[in-house]
Amino acid sequence: MKAAIYPGSFDPVTYGHLDIIRRAAEIFDELTVSVLNNQLKTPLFSVEERVKILEEATKDFPNVKVDSFSGLLIDYSKKKGVHVAIRGLRAITDFEYELQIAQTNKLLSKGELDTVFLTTSLEYAYLSSSSVKEIASFNGDISMCVPEFVAQLIYEKYGHK
Ligand code: PNS
Repeated sequence: MKAAIYPGSFDPVTYGHLDIIRRAAEIFDELTVSVLNNQLKTPLFSVEERVKILEEATKDFPNVKVDSFSGLLIDYSKKKGVHVAIRGLRAITDFEYELQIAQTNKLLSKGELDTVFLTTSLEYAYLSSSSVKEIASFNGDISMCVPEFVAQLIYEKYGHK
């Protein structure tokens, strides 16, 4: 069985992430979308909230599971027995950062963990969780960026609606 992990902050999940999830789930038999519990960042949504949001947003994909992890991705993927990490690439600026992480993970895992990159569909190439949060904080329209129920949750966090 071909399994993969799609790690990320997902704070919150966007249509760009969901596009990568849908396409990765078509390539792999089982996809685990895993939220990084990063103590260094102050997220808008807690890990538990992000997991719940992702579960709801991916409920129509039968081979997609949602989980969370702390620490190194190579340790988490080893524990899961998974050898492929999925990452989305929007632009060349993503590539430099992602290449560095992918090569570090390959080295640290002694060759065990490979990274498969999917290029983001052009319609979502402009999207980032940070810009979604910034727009929402000013009560702007994020309907083209995230599912409706996610938009409501984001607006609530900023005290709108
Ligand atoms: O959605 P993000 O914030 O771009 O995701 C980044 C993520 C979670 C893929 C990356 O930060 C990660 O894997 N962190 C876990 C810690 C780790 O393994 N670091 C070693 C690679 S340098």
